[in-house]
Amino acid sequence: MKTLIKNGRIVTAVDDYRADILIEDETISVIGKTLNIEADVVIDAANKLVIPGGIDPHTHMELPFGGTYSSDDFFTGTRAAAFGGTTTIIDFAVQTKGEAMTAGVDAWHKKAAGKCAIDYGFHLITTEFEDGDEREMYRLMDEGITSFKLFMAYPGVFLADDATIFRAMSAAGNRGGLICMHAENGIVINEIIKRALAQGRTAPKYHALTRPTIAEAEGVHRAIAIAEMAESPVYIVHLSCTDALNQVREARDRGIATFAETCPQYLFHSIEDYGEGFEGAKYVMTPPLREKHNQAELWKGLKMDDLQVISTDHCPFCMKEQKELGKDDFSKIPNGAPGVENRMSLIYNGGVVENRISLNRFVELTSTAAAKMFGLFPKKGTIAVGSDADIVIFDAEKEHTFGVAHEHMNVDYSSYEGWTVKGKVETVLSRGRVVIENGEHKGKAGDGQFLKRGTCVNI
Ligand code: URP
Ligand code: ZN
Ligand code: ZN
Repeated sequence: MKTLIKNGRIVTAVDDYRADILIEDETISVIGKTLNIEADVVIDAANKLVIPGGIDPHTHMELPFGGTYSSDDFFTGTRAAAFGGTTTIIDFAVQTKGEAMTAGVDAWHKKAAGKCAIDYGFHLITTEFEDGDEREMYRLMDEGITSFKLFMAYPGVFLADDATIFRAMSAAGNRGGLICMHAENGIVINEIIKRALAQGRTAPKYHALTRPTIAEAEGVHRAIAIAEMAESPVYIVHLSCTDALNQVREARDRGIATFAETCPQYLFHSIEDYGEGFEGAKYVMTPPLREKHNQAELWKGLKMDDLQVISTDHCPFCMKEQKELGKDDFSKIPNGAPGVENRMSLIYNGGVVENRISLNRFVELTSTAAAKMFGLFPKKGTIAVGSDADIVIFDAEKEHTFGVAHEHMNVDYSSYEGWTVKGKVETVLSRGRVVIENGEHKGKAGDGQFLKRGTCVNI
């Protein structure tokens, strides 16, 4: 099967030129100025950008959390991702406390098998790690699960103490594995929450007011310090504020292998979005939305490479019956929000159109950097001969309005309802196959393959 993409403007993290692309079966085989080659499918990309498919390295499909499950399964969530120009996700499998790490991964394989519309990999949320567990960790690494998320938040659910974090980091560091850290002081936060509830403060806005930025900054500082002692790199997930970013900056300036991602919600939303009523539950996620002044600093961090990746932390819960679990108590609102479908257009508009980052940096932040960080490059994350043909034809001039009525995530609201952005995903190819065209999904459940990932190339 041959597919030819003609007349497009190819943009990668480093290139920007006009050329044609020949795809044979699943991979890119030729890139040339003008290719006059017979093909089964010819796509005219004149006046369009041709960019690598997005990689979202932080999603939670069907996550058991907060007394319910995140509302996207691996089919609805990955199909929505494809609509939004993302062709790879890395989801978080969960080691339930008392269970082997491998059991968590097996459970996630069962959830995802035969359901994904795009390619997928797993990290493992690691809740327990004792001496000797490195054998199991390395077995998982051999199976392509090379990154592990530990939590300093959610006591009694996911929280790992400092000794556990140190053991896991030491083991990962010895073998090129990467620890992803949810860095917030969950123990102190729980005390602040108890006080707020005792004072009758139950509305969603108190989710934010009980999780101060210093609790995140302390977590980031401690994560980096433990990583330094363990001689391991660390990747901070969903970094939300200047105070936390400054800890990353300080470590990177000292040459410590510290990496971090942020998410669109922290770049575009602020604490004001909680309002006074229950509608604010839409934005109950962790870390919470911050004061607006943090946004400019995060953009600066993205521009200067103190932040390397933009993921979504896609973890949707419907307002009806799910977020409503916390109608009378913000601490019972399931934490998380949808976003896997919105990321590429949002960041193109907010970043490139609004002159905060270059077009190459947009590709790097939404695709290439995650591929390098999580052992997928150059199979994923670029447009090059030999790479998988995961390609987005992007109309940079076309406007696009977000709204729950025409989005595909399995959730009853959009975090960006009514927002109009410039830049629309037009056609999406996943390993050479057109999966999104003319606003329709052309693929099927099970098209996506599990990705056995290698190790981070930045370490
Ligand atoms: O609120 C969030 N972020 N929910 C998903 C779980 C996590 O901490 O990433
Ligand atoms: Zn987290
Ligand atoms: Zn998450």
